[in-house]
Amino acid sequence: MKTLIKNGRIVTAVDDYHADILIDGETIDMIGKKLDVQADKIIDATDRLVIPGGIDPHTHLDMPFGGTVSADDFQTGTIAAAHGGTTTIIDFAIQAKGTSIQKALETWHAKAAGKTAIDYGFHMIVTDLSPTDHVPEMRHLMEREGVLSFKLFMAYPGVLLADDATIFRAMSVAGEHGGLICMHAENGVVINEIVARALAEGKTHPKYHSLTRPTLAEAEGVNRSIMLAEMAGSPVYIVHLSCSEALQKIKEARDEGIPAFAETCPQYLFLDYTYYEREGFEGAKYVMTPPLREKWHQEKLWTGLRMNDLQVVSTDHCPFCFKDQKQLGKDDFSKIPNGGPGVENRMSLVYNGGVVQGRISVNRFVEITSTSAARIFGLFPRKGTIAPGSDADIVIFNPNKKMTISAETHHMNVDYNCYEGMEVTGVTETVLSRGKVIIENGSYVGKPGDGKYLKRSSVQEALRPAVASGR
Ligand code: URP
Ligand code: ZN
Ligand code: ZN
Repeated sequence: MKTLIKNGRIVTAVDDYHADILIDGETIDMIGKKLDVQADKIIDATDRLVIPGGIDPHTHLDMPFGGTVSADDFQTGTIAAAHGGTTTIIDFAIQAKGTSIQKALETWHAKAAGKTAIDYGFHMIVTDLSPTDHVPEMRHLMEREGVLSFKLFMAYPGVLLADDATIFRAMSVAGEHGGLICMHAENGVVINEIVARALAEGKTHPKYHSLTRPTLAEAEGVNRSIMLAEMAGSPVYIVHLSCSEALQKIKEARDEGIPAFAETCPQYLFLDYTYYEREGFEGAKYVMTPPLREKWHQEKLWTGLRMNDLQVVSTDHCPFCFKDQKQLGKDDFSKIPNGGPGVENRMSLVYNGGVVQGRISVNRFVEITSTSAARIFGLFPRKGTIAPGSDADIVIFNPNKKMTISAETHHMNVDYNCYEGMEVTGVTETVLSRGKVIIENGSYVGKPGDGKYLKRSSVQEALRPAVASGR
């Protein structure tokens, strides 16, 4: 099957030009001006951006958490992602405490099998890392299973938290094998102490979720992560960075040439603390960790994205329905399942807030929503760019079309949208996943199960130039 995309404006992290793209099967065959070739399908992309499919390296589909399970499974979540212009996700498998890492990977493969609408990879959340059982499993995942990234938590004591020795051990093993440690960097032990104090004083409202998780607890976690990684000789990637103080730690490290990388998420760029003060229990919709911060942090994060101190915008998509899941914490904010939806809205939000509002270039938009994640997580150049030989994961994006975000029209399996009523300029119209059109005229026309598992290669290979240049 050959598909010709004609007359589009092709934008990658580095290029911006008008040309046609010939797709042969699953990959890009040829790019050129006014290609005069036969094709089975022709897509006219006049006045549209033609960009690499988005890569969201932080989702939690079908994940048991906080006494319930995230509301999107691998089918609903990946279809919603596709609607929004994301063609690859990297989701998190979880090793339950004291159990096998390999078994956890098998469990997550089973959750995804036959369901995914787009390609996907896995990070592994490590909660236990005994030198005899789990370290060999971690090596096996990197060498044989294509899992090169591992998330460790400084938060959630007793549930997911890994102590410093475990983090250091994981970083050392990852460092030796071309892997990468992703850190949830919040001092959860101190936070638990503050939470206990608040509850003892009868403070149960959702806003106390934010008031008990100070920005310094995050900055301390980021600082410790960087120091531990430096001692272990490994790069480190901070997930869901939310505030200026934490960003400052990343910036200082990068200025010293230390291979520290970080992502932020749309919730920290567009939402703020005041959302917790909404009437009644509404604030529970925004209970996620780290919490929403005061509004002034947003501009600092945009500057971080512009200056490449932050490399990626992921979503941390972890949806729980307001009606029957967030209510678990009706009388106690600490029991509200942590997480929010967003996988469908990321590309439009970042385009609108970034490019339309003049904060970043269109190339940087592509870089932070696709290319950087491909490079950092070992998918480039198969994913994250438009070039001959790359997978034909392509989004035809209308930069002038407006859309009002709403739970009424979104495709995520959750009964609210964090960005309800926001108008954005810049909308995904057509999506190809490895050469197949999966979104057309606002409808999903693909087949669940067509998404492929992506075995990833060494991530440090991709990071080397960035490490060498200190940026
Ligand atoms: O609140 C959040 N972020 N939930 C998902 C789990 C995590 O920490 O990423
Ligand atoms: Zn986290
Ligand atoms: Zn997360």
